[in-house]
Amino acid sequence: MNLIERAKQRIPGGVNSPVRAFGSVDMDPVFIRSGRGAYVYDESGNEYLDFIGSWGPMILGHGKEELIQNAQEYLQEGLTFGLPTAIEVEMAELVTEATRTDMVRMVNSGTEAAMSAIRLARGFTGREKIIKFEGCYHGHSDSLLVKSGSGTLTFRKPTSSGVPYDTIKHTIVCEYNNIESVKEAVRQFPDDIACVILEPIAGNMGVVPSELAFIQELRALTEKEGIILIFDEVITGFRTVYGSISSLFGVQADLYCFGKIIGGGLPVGAFAGKREIMEHLSPVGGVYQAGTLSGNPLAMKMGRDTLHILRDNPAIYDKLAEYGAMLEEGFTSNLKETNTPGAVTRFRSMVCLFFGEFDTIRSFEDVKHADTDTYARYFKEMIGMGIILAPAQFEAIFLSDAHTKENIEYLIASSKKAMLAIK
Ligand SMILES: Cc1ncc(COP(=O)(O)O)c(C=O)c1O
Repeated sequence: MNLIERAKQRIPGGVNSPVRAFGSVDMDPVFIRSGRGAYVYDESGNEYLDFIGSWGPMILGHGKEELIQNAQEYLQEGLTFGLPTAIEVEMAELVTEATRTDMVRMVNSGTEAAMSAIRLARGFTGREKIIKFEGCYHGHSDSLLVKSGSGTLTFRKPTSSGVPYDTIKHTIVCEYNNIESVKEAVRQFPDDIACVILEPIAGNMGVVPSELAFIQELRALTEKEGIILIFDEVITGFRTVYGSISSLFGVQADLYCFGKIIGGGLPVGAFAGKREIMEHLSPVGGVYQAGTLSGNPLAMKMGRDTLHILRDNPAIYDKLAEYGAMLEEGFTSNLKETNTPGAVTRFRSMVCLFFGEFDTIRSFEDVKHADTDTYARYFKEMIGMGIILAPAQFEAIFLSDAHTKENIEYLIASSKKAMLAIK
């Protein structure tokens, strides 16, 4: 029996996270045995140039020598104690300094970070309703698995079975980059909205950058109404810049969610923010939140070493942004030269190639008509040329410091060949 058949016998769908099943591209998944630098190797020994990067964490590439050497040392020191450790303090100082926040709490995933930040915002404000934006993803907790119903703010539907209506009835779904939709929600529920959560650059509906005016107005509105603004930077944090994207926007949120990169490849999430809010968390305040493996020493040490490399080498961010620009230009010319309907979106190193006809790309409404069948055919051509992209249209391309200019040129050239092949 091959691996996927064996996997399906014991793991639902054969995978531990649905996107890995390659369902959107109508293929069996590739099982990865190892990774080195910009490449991953499957169980049959095939090599792929990797543009998934574990969906974000591997910003330094796979198996970076000094990180691996350190990890071997850390293993000798013990794996988990369930008692405070100095590395947790060091990591908290590092993350809060980088993100210009006062305090941070470590968790084990981005899902936990967003779920806990929302509970904290509710506990702090004493309000129940929350606002999210269609197309933004904040993990799989119940109150966030929701989409708007019939185009109005008050009709909403769970995006998963098993989510009772009662758990989403306080979630209002607004339109990304549309401040009027947020104003309308505030008008309908005055003094009842605890927080607004968003990805400041959306990376889960393809890449859809927010407009500066939208973010600025959102900040002004939430401040005026006493609503907590939460930036979910699980993807953008430490990817587009060292720390929070706030330093690029000049707009400070009240709470932030982080994950992926800060764990250096181990399971870590975090939420951070202002002292007066964070001190509502247990054991200081009444908002309960906990975790057996939270602040795990090995994960903290790997995260710290990754952040040290990023902090001490700011040129990495310039290089990634330059590669992002190369991709935007290359993909755009490919679409034109091959006469393929599509569009390219980008924010610094976060890039997405959409297939389909678009007027603008500002919200989920704009991207939801993307041609996912064409993406699936394109993906198959690309993997055939030894390039592994996200096996789904609505994802970013993740670049790493291990990628070279030649890798980027190869991606662009192969992409053109794939566009021609699927015509
Ligand atoms: C913006 C954002 N928030 C939260 C999450 C959830 O993180 P995790 O998968 O670690 O639970 C993700 C996952 O991709 C994400 O992209």
